[in-house]
Parts: sequence; structure tokens; C-alpha cells
Amino acid sequence: TGMCTFDPGFGSTASCESSITYIDGNKGILLYRGYPIEELAAEGDFIDSTFLLLHGELPSKQEKALFEREIKYHTLVHEQLIQFYRGFRHDAHPMAIMVGVVGALAAFYPEVAEVRNPQQQLRACYRLIAKMPTLAAMAYKTSIGQPIIYPRNDLNYAENFLHMMFAVPSERYEVDPELAKALEIIFILHLDHEQNASTSTVRTAGSSQANPFACVASGIAALWGPAHGGANEAVLKMLEEIDRLGGVEQIPTMVARAKDKNDSFRLMGFGHRVYKSYDPRAKLMRQVTYRVLEKLGRKDTLLDIAMELEKIALQDDYFVKRSLYPNVDFYSGIVLRALGIPVEMYTVLFAMARTVGWVAQWKEMVADATGRITRPRQIYTGELRRKFIPVYERQ
Ligand code: CMC
Repeated sequence: TGMCTFDPGFGSTASCESSITYIDGNKGILLYRGYPIEELAAEGDFIDSTFLLLHGELPSKQEKALFEREIKYHTLVHEQLIQFYRGFRHDAHPMAIMVGVVGALAAFYPEVAEVRNPQQQLRACYRLIAKMPTLAAMAYKTSIGQPIIYPRNDLNYAENFLHMMFAVPSERYEVDPELAKALEIIFILHLDHEQNASTSTVRTAGSSQANPFACVASGIAALWGPAHGGANEAVLKMLEEIDRLGGVEQIPTMVARAKDKNDSFRLMGFGHRVYKSYDPRAKLMRQVTYRVLEKLGRKDTLLDIAMELEKIALQDDYFVKRSLYPNVDFYSGIVLRALGIPVEMYTVLFAMARTVGWVAQWKEMVADATGRITRPRQIYTGELRRKFIPVYERQ
């Protein structure tokens, strides 16, 4: 129309300036504040990476200890929130619960939106990062009818999460530090990914100066879909389906379906808007998967299916031409399954980790005094001015 450019799905429109995460989709590079994801995963930890994303630099030793203490200070949630969990059907999907309870946190911290105070804003970020694992584990415990397990602040982020998921009051539960480390790496790989659908949603909600807890709830909603964070659950279900139908011999049929434009089925865990080469997170995820299965002394037929599926797809013209490679979600389900995480919780774990990116991006946005409300334009395709017809004159 001359007034605005049409860019459906924002394939070529930058919505903001950001100094948090850098992706080179052609080379398969992912950097948090300039640091390669491979190095953060191998040598850093959750606290390093989270501090880095939020504050722009790796913490000094002292900053790190202080930051960790500050996060742990906020791990408990208001007791009244437990009532919210009781209101859900016992078989509610934990992502539905998370959309509700995280949004409800806005009612417990109503002051944050009004106060344009960086200290308040930072505290909201810390609270969200700290409370997400508690809320996520509460969703799981509710779904299986077990009592809620309170956070243990002597454990690190990943260990504490495993404890809240799997401890029961009547038994001793020992967290396996090696498995917790694997989980921590998975979290690091998911922390941020620049302007993906859920992060853009958080920024859009935040651009109206809405309460940050409510903004993050909107991010959780956007993440839930199978084209985004819901893909990890969808991948596992797809691999199980292939297994049920007869295993690796069924792969060509699945691949044919994914290529068929009359079939809405897509290969889950394949393709990405930005990566036109192998997703660096998927590479690391595959390594973690091998390590965990080896440590547990376990074989998983789903891993065999996944590897064969990857091999066949990567040799297929359809996938080669469109540069469709495995993404972060392709292997994550297999390793989460080995860690004993139920499939409905996969996207919740993604949401827990991505909360760090959401709040870092939200904080960056609200700190920019020149920021404008997100308000895209449209290409109107409807009727132009028509004359109103009273009901008695209508056909
Ligand atoms: N299986 C089969 N065909 C595919 C797939 C797939 N997984 N992904 C893309 N295509 C085809 C698509 O049909 C299109 O073909 P054509 O040019 O003939 O019309 C072409 O590849 C380009 O796809 P697109 O839909 O324009 O790409 P997009 O950037 O809009 O979508 C995507 C990206 C991730 C939504 C998509 O690749 C997809 O649906 N993948 C499966 C779901 C998935 O694994 N999502 C997780 C993404 S990574 C983690 C995250 O962000 O949460």
C-alpha cells in the first residue's frame, strides 16, 4: 500500500536492537554476549551464563557468589499459590498450569509495573528465574498427586530442580551430580535465542509497560506450540509413533509424509527460521544424550530411530534444498526421557530455562527510555466503506 512493508512472520524485519544474543544462521554460530555456547556449556555453569545474559559480563568470583545467594533467596513461592494448583483438573497439561500460575504471580507483585525503578525491575527478574523451577516441579507433583517438595537452597539450580521433581517426603532422595550436570547443560543451551516467537511475545507485552510476571506468562503461552518449544514433546511422540508402527523401516514413510504438501505433518525437530546449517545446540544436545545414556548403561531404541531419521533426511533432496537440519528439540526429548523427566514436562523445562532470556530481554527493553510500544501495521484486505442496512431490510 506504500504505507508499510509486508513481512509476514517477520522474516526480514528487525523489531529491536539488542546486545544479548548473536546468531549466525549460515555458519551455525550462537553467542551469549559474545561467548560461544560451546564454551559456556563445557566450562561455565547456569549461574555464570544467567549472570552474563542479565548483566552483560561474566561475574567475578564475588559477584557470582552474591548473585547465586540472591537467586536462592527467592526460590520459595507464596503459600497461597498452592491453592491455584488445586483448582486445576488432575490431568491438566503442566504448560496450561504454568501459563496460569506464572500470570498469577503478577497479583503477588503488582508494584513492579508501575515503578520505573531498575532495582524493582531486577528483583522481578530474579524472582522469575528463582521461582520457575519451584512452580514447574509443583505442576508435576500436582499432576501425579504427590505432595509438593520445597526447594533446597544447598543444592544448585539443576540439582534442586531434580530434588523437587523426584523426592518424596517418606524417602531419601540422592541427586546424581553427573545427571544434574547434564541437565544443567541442557538448561544453558536453552537460556536465550534472540527474537524467537516467545521472546518477541514477552517484549510485545512488555512494550505496553505491563507487569513482567504477566509478560512472561504470555511468553510461556507462545512457547507452548509445537512449531516452537512444544517441538521437544512433539519429537518424542513422533519417535514413539515410528517405534510403535514398526521402527526404523517406517522412517521412509514418515519422511515421505513430511515432504507431501497435502499432508500437514512435518518432521518435528527439523528446520529453523534462522539456522540454515546444523543448529549448534543440537550438536551439543546429541553429545549430552550419548553421555547420559552411557552413564546410565542404557540403550534407547528411540535414539536409534532418531539417528536413522536424521541420516535419511539429511541425504534427501527435499531437506537439502531447503537447508532443513535437526534443531535443539530433536535430541532433547531422548535425553530428558533418560533422566526420567515425563514427556509433558519437556516444554516446561524449556520455559524454565528460557525465562532467563525472557527477563534479560525484558530488562534490556525497559531500560531503553526511547522504546516505543510494539504496534505492527497490516495490509487490510477486507471491504471498504459500506452503507449499514437495518435488519428488516436484510435478505
Ligand atoms: N518438515 C518438513 N518440511 C519442512 C519442515 C519440517 N520440519 N520445516 C520446514 N519445512 C519446509 C516448509 O514446508 C517450506 O517448504 P516450501 O518452501 O516448499 O513451502 C520450507 O521448508 C520453509 O519452511 P517455513 O515454514 O517457511 O520455515 P519457517 O522459518 O517459517 O519455520 C519452523 C520454521 C521451525 C517453524 C519449521 O521449520 C517447523 O515447523 N519445524 C518443525 C517444528 C520444530 O521442530 N520446531 C522447533 C524449532 S527450534 C526450537 C524453537 O524455536 O523452539
